[in-house]
Amino acid sequence: MRTKPVDRIVAEGGQGEGGELKRTMSLLQLTLFSVGATLGTGIFVVLGEAVPLAGPAVVLSFVLAAVTALFSALSYAELAGTIPVSGSSYSYAYATLGELVAWVCGWCLLLEYAVSVSAVSVGWGSYLNEFFDAAFGFTIPAEISNPPGDGGLVNVPAVIVVLFATFLLLRGTSESATANTVMVFLKIGVLLFFCAVAFTAMHSGNLTPFAPMGWAGISAAGSKVFFSYIGFDAASTAGEEAKNPRRDLPMAIMLSLAIVTAVYVLVGLAAVGAMHWQEFDLSGSEASLARVLDEATGRTWPSMILSLGAVIAIASVVLTVMYGQTRILFAMSRDGLVPQVFQKVSPGRRVPVANTVIVAAFISVLAAVIPLGRLVDATSIGTLFAFALVSVGVIVLRRTRPDLPRSFRTPLYPLTPLLGVALCLYLMVGLGGVTWIVFALWSAAGLVAYFLYGRRHSRLAGGSAGKGAP
Ligand code: ALA
Repeated sequence: MRTKPVDRIVAEGGQGEGGELKRTMSLLQLTLFSVGATLGTGIFVVLGEAVPLAGPAVVLSFVLAAVTALFSALSYAELAGTIPVSGSSYSYAYATLGELVAWVCGWCLLLEYAVSVSAVSVGWGSYLNEFFDAAFGFTIPAEISNPPGDGGLVNVPAVIVVLFATFLLLRGTSESATANTVMVFLKIGVLLFFCAVAFTAMHSGNLTPFAPMGWAGISAAGSKVFFSYIGFDAASTAGEEAKNPRRDLPMAIMLSLAIVTAVYVLVGLAAVGAMHWQEFDLSGSEASLARVLDEATGRTWPSMILSLGAVIAIASVVLTVMYGQTRILFAMSRDGLVPQVFQKVSPGRRVPVANTVIVAAFISVLAAVIPLGRLVDATSIGTLFAFALVSVGVIVLRRTRPDLPRSFRTPLYPLTPLLGVALCLYLMVGLGGVTWIVFALWSAAGLVAYFLYGRRHSRLAGGSAGKGAP
C-alpha cells in the first residue's frame, strides 16, 4: 500500500540512468501526438466490426465511447496537470493508490499500449494489402499476412510496420514528433476525403431502421469502438519531454479528444450512409472504409487513395503508442518495479535503446500470431480498467493532498470521476466472456510478477534497483 510522494515523483521526472530526457514538445506537438496515437485501426478497421452489432446507430456507439473517454480524460487532465511526469496512469496510481495498484495499472497499460500496437499493426497490414490490390491487382498471400486461426501462419506486414516504428524511435524524440505531425495531418485529410466521397453516395434508406438491435446493440458496439479512442491520453506519457507540462498536458488531452470525436462521428455517419449496415463484415480484419468506397463508387481509385493514406497514417499510431509504452516502462524501471535495463538512456541520442528494442520484440510476436479482434478486446479491457483507476486516483488525491497546485480541476467533482468509473465498468461488461478470462489470466500473471520481482526491487521499499533515493 506504500505510495510514492507526489513531490518526489515530480522531482525525479526526466531522470534516467545515463541522462535526462529532452524537453522538446509544445502544446501543438503534444495535441498532435495524442491525435496521432488515437486515429488509427479503430476507425479504419474496427468500425466495420462494430456496424453489424448496432446498425446505423453505430454513430451513437461512438458517442457512448466518447462520453466514457471524456470522463476519463477529465481525470487524466487533472492528474497530468498535478503530476506531470512520463508514467501516465501508472505514476498517478503510485502517488495515490499505492504500489500494488500502481503495478496493476502499469500491467494494464501493457495491454493499452503494447498490445494495442500489435492490434494497430494488424490493421495496418489489411490496408497495405488493400492498397496493393487496388493499385497493382495483387495481394500478399494469406499464409504470410494472417495469423493462425485466421487463414494464415504469420502476419508479416504487421511485423514490418513495428520494425519501421522502432527504427524511427531509435533516432530520437524530436524527429519522431516531426514525422508524427506530418502523418496526423495526412490522416485527418484522408478521413475527410473518405467522408466527402461517401457522403456523395449516401442513401437515406441505409439509415432506416436506425437502431435495429436497440440499446443492447449500441452499447455492445460502444465497447467495441472504445478501442478507437484509446490513445487520447498519450500526451500523459510525454510529461517529461514537454516544454510546459502543467499548462499543456491537460489542454492537449482535452483538445485531442474533441478532435477525434468529431472525426469519428462524421466518418461513422458517412460509412453507414453509403453502405447498408448488413453488408459490413463482422469477422476478420477487413479494410472496411476502403470497402465502403469500393461499393459506393464502383471504382477503385478512391479506395486506392484511402488505403495509401491509411497505410501512412496508421503507422503513426504504431509510432506514438510504442513510444508511450517505452516511457511507461522507463518510469516503472526507475521505481525498481521492472528491471533496470528499461531505464538505460543512450548517451548520444538520449533515447532508451534497450527498452525500445525489447518492447518492439514483444509487440511483433503478438502482432504476428494473434487475430485482430482478440487483440482489440484485450486492449480495451485493460485500458478501461486503467482509466477507472485514474478516476479513483483523482478522488483519493483530492482527499490526501488537497494542497497540491492543480493546473486543471475536473468540473462537477466528485460526480465526474464517479461517472468515469461507472462508465468504464459498463463498457468492460460489454466485452464478453473470453476477454474477461484473458484479462483474469493477465492480471494473475501480473500479480505473480509483482510478488516475485517488483515488490523486492522497489526503490520505495529500499530495494536495490535504480540509483537510490535522491
Ligand atoms: N485508438 C487507436 C486506434 O484506433 C488504438 O488505432
